[in-house]
Amino acid sequence: MVDGSSSISNTGAMNSRRHFVRSKETLGEKDMILTLEGPFPKVFPGQFAMLSSVEHWPVQLPRPLSYFDVEPGNAGWARFLIKVIGPGTRALASAEIGAEVCVTGPLGRGFDLWKDSEPVCIAGGVGLAPFLLLARERKAAGMPPLKILFGGANQAALVGQQAFPQGAVDWELSTDDGSEGFEGNVLELYRSLLSQGQVSANSPVLCCGPDPMMAAVARFCADQGTPCSVSLETMMACGYGVCNGCSVPVRGEGRFAGKTYARTCVDGPVFDAGELLWP
Ligand SMILES: Cc1cc2nc3c(=O)[nH]c(=O)nc-3n(C[C@H](O)[C@H](O)[C@H](O)COP(=O)(O)OP(=O)(O)OC[C@H]3O[C@@H](n4cnc5c(N)ncnc54)[C@H](O)[C@@H]3O)c2cc1C
Ligand code: FES
Repeated sequence: MVDGSSSISNTGAMNSRRHFVRSKETLGEKDMILTLEGPFPKVFPGQFAMLSSVEHWPVQLPRPLSYFDVEPGNAGWARFLIKVIGPGTRALASAEIGAEVCVTGPLGRGFDLWKDSEPVCIAGGVGLAPFLLLARERKAAGMPPLKILFGGANQAALVGQQAFPQGAVDWELSTDDGSEGFEGNVLELYRSLLSQGQVSANSPVLCCGPDPMMAAVARFCADQGTPCSVSLETMMACGYGVCNGCSVPVRGEGRFAGKTYARTCVDGPVFDAGELLWP
């Protein structure tokens, strides 16, 4: 663990537990919310867990998922927003109510650019997942609603908004086909809001979504001098720093001085965009 800040990471307290499936909610064609019975440990916004179903797990390794929500107070349940794309996510989606899911977490380093500032969050698809806990923590601290720019291919792709606490978010939506909100991609939406003065280039950007989107946002922010953090969804094997399967190239400065690679699972998943070497 490079950054041991206790405010954004508690990987040292990592543990594995079995949790019963409490409920499942289907959202559109490919997305769902899986709710597991607690108790869960303290989770910081941006952290993730490695999940596998106990009864039927068709692949060798567990799969990383962001904690989408955790019950405030006693953490009696946790939710995961899942895009079902392959055998692992399919197995989690098909676990019956009352079935057991193995959860190792919380893992990784979450967001640290939000406490003293008014961040602009840019999310694509299930890249929305790490922002709910952030919105919840800010609301609980009496801070203004979190600005989230949420983009997808079409209206059906914009899933998960309804799970956010009432009044915790100031939403701006975009769809590629114009079926909801701004017509265009979410970076174009951000540029449009900047040009209208509705967001400031001084506000840090927190970004999570498909790699090409994060790369484009990171480049744009670098060009205009806006601080930018990205939450990477690199494929992972172990999730806690052992296999090096999640290595990403870094610039070799700051906390990565002299290094050419960082491990997303322990050094991230949240990185300062300037720490990474983008394709
Ligand atoms: C820190 C972190 C947080 C994540 N949070 C979420 C979340 O909240 N919700 C969610 O739905 N997903 C999330 N993901 C992505 C999720 O882990 C993958 O979608 C999942 O592992 C796919 O497993 P599978 O067995 O269903 O599909 P696989 O068979 O493993 O993959 C299906 C296809 O997708 C490709 N693929 C798999 N994973 C990725 C990836 N990460 N990036 C690009 N392509 C990939 C594979 O190459 C393959 O072509 C997160 C990933 C990380 C690292
Ligand atoms: S997933 Fe194994 S080191 Fe990161």
